[in-house]
Amino acid sequence: MPEADAAALARLASRRSVKAQQLHEPGPDDATLRRMLEIAMRVPDHGKLTPWRFIVFRGDAGAQAGEAIAALFAEKNPDADEKRLEEERGRLARAPLVIGVVSTAAPHAKIPEFEQLLSAGNAAMLTVMAAHALGFAAHWVTEWISYDEDAGRILGLQPGERFVGFVHIGTPTVPPVDRPRPALEDVVEYWRPAGT
Ligand SMILES: Cc1cc2nc3c(=O)[nH]c(=O)nc-3n(C[C@H](O)[C@H](O)[C@H](O)COP(=O)(O)O)c2cc1C
Repeated sequence: MPEADAAALARLASRRSVKAQQLHEPGPDDATLRRMLEIAMRVPDHGKLTPWRFIVFRGDAGAQAGEAIAALFAEKNPDADEKRLEEERGRLARAPLVIGVVSTAAPHAKIPEFEQLLSAGNAAMLTVMAAHALGFAAHWVTEWISYDEDAGRILGLQPGERFVGFVHIGTPTVPPVDRPRPALEDVVEYWRPAGT
């Protein structure tokens, strides 16, 4: 058997999400953010196409983006009340750091777009894991801004790109609580030829 890394395994096994609104300062500093992104970029990538990129919201950027998103929401939902608009203003400023993970998947002669999208999704997951390994907590959310083209443009998408989500990162204000996980037996099957 290869030698196991007990500390790394314990970290992997203990990951759980903490809601964006429960993530506070301190967030990662510049060096830690770079490290996190370097880890995220270790994602498998069929064809080495780099079919993803990251848009970072931190400091004033989160609140500024939120202002623009709230204005867009008001335009699309003229009946929205002030409480909801306030929520929109804070959408990218709940946690100290938000990393928008972008899929740049595009038609390719050999590599299906599906695989490129999976690579971007896994870059998001590695961002979550890196945050956890560095002692922070994270919440990967999509919310409406991942599905609205106008919101995408405001948040920096180029034509053809889409967000696979926004990873909110910070220090939890409450002890993380786990959720029930499925039983291994319910989701794992050992394949055998039919009829055996
Ligand atoms: C692609 C994707 C999108 C998600 N979008 C949201 C979301 O918009 N809002 C939300 O509350 N959770 C969302 N989640 C779920 C959370 O990231 C998280 O997995 C969930 O709260 C369960 O917690 P756990 O990670 O500890 O299992 C999303 C997860 C994935 C994979």
